[in-house]
Amino acid sequence: MPETTAATPSSPIDLPTTPLARAAEVPVPAADELAGRFALTPNPAPADEAERAERLANPGFGSSFTDHMAHARWIAGQGWTGHGIIPFGEISLSPAAAVLHYSQEVFEGIKAYRHADGSVWTFRPRYNAARMAASARRLAMPELPEEDFIASLVDLVRADAAWVPTGDGESLYLRPFAFASEPFLGVHPARVIDYYAIASPSGAYFTGGLTPISIWVSSDYHRAGRGGTGAAKTGGNYAGSLLPQQIAAEQGCDQVCFLDDVTQTNIEELGGMNLMVVDADGTVRTPRLTGTILEGSTRSAILRLLSDAGRAVVEDTISLAGLLDSIRSGAVTEVFACGTAAVVVPLGRLKGEDFDVELSGHEVTSEIHERLTAIQNGTAPDPYGWMYRLV
Ligand code: COI
Repeated sequence: MPETTAATPSSPIDLPTTPLARAAEVPVPAADELAGRFALTPNPAPADEAERAERLANPGFGSSFTDHMAHARWIAGQGWTGHGIIPFGEISLSPAAAVLHYSQEVFEGIKAYRHADGSVWTFRPRYNAARMAASARRLAMPELPEEDFIASLVDLVRADAAWVPTGDGESLYLRPFAFASEPFLGVHPARVIDYYAIASPSGAYFTGGLTPISIWVSSDYHRAGRGGTGAAKTGGNYAGSLLPQQIAAEQGCDQVCFLDDVTQTNIEELGGMNLMVVDADGTVRTPRLTGTILEGSTRSAILRLLSDAGRAVVEDTISLAGLLDSIRSGAVTEVFACGTAAVVVPLGRLKGEDFDVELSGHEVTSEIHERLTAIQNGTAPDPYGWMYRLV
């Protein structure tokens, strides 16, 4: 179980609080020092300027990819080998590769942002590096050294810098991932693991941008259970969320929200985003990390920003019944979702088997969206040293 704050319900957070937040504080060597760990084999047939411009014109999310990808392989007894930036393309895998059968896989999501002077930056890369290592430990996989993880992003973004979009709300979404490639059907931790990082020019995750989204609260299905893999970023958690997400869509909702699996009464998170609740007195509450919630880098940064702005910020047990009552009475004015891909997005509606409530507030949501994205886009100072220059 991950370490959480010692905060009792309704006590303000003393930040930083978790191993990941503390890991993210460790300085990262300058990109020039890390560059070159993943040697470049240039793509012999990169997209030409016209094709790149067309794909950058309206990037959407996650559907278009750059010319290169990072790769390294771990072999038991040898460690990590073959670090390189290679042409983006299909990968060949044995049909017996363990990941296809037993889902031994972990991944990350992190963005590269173009600043007005043309430089390219990323956000708290050591946070993601440490989370990928923690996810790997939970999945009985070898950890990629944190600085190799960051170096792979430095070398990939340097190779594909022309692909970092410049539009409002746009970025280059980076997707590092590792999986069991050993061809073996016995159930054991694989002796061969492949690591890749791919890059995708991206706009808003939700096409409406800051337009409020609607949420279906799943009562039949849970995302994670005690002692399971909920705190790890692994594909299985997302696979399990697809059917409830499909049900959410059938109910006319954009996203699904999961309750805890033990009491089935407390809200945990969405399919791929954390949740925050804004009380009428300005307090912001978020579900405490119980081991079944993925600790988001955006969640962690927002808690810090809100706390430093003088708000009471609380990691708490948030019951669905209490939340619904508070929305109806006006004691809760806003609820928002946050994540790397989604950034910050307000909830406009919460629906379930026997309720359907609307929310109209978005003042704090917009304020935190503005504050966070200004730091990420380099239009506001970064007093935390969160931004890391890649190019
Ligand atoms: C991210 O926010 O980076 C994620 O991996 C979540 C996913 C829903 C895209």
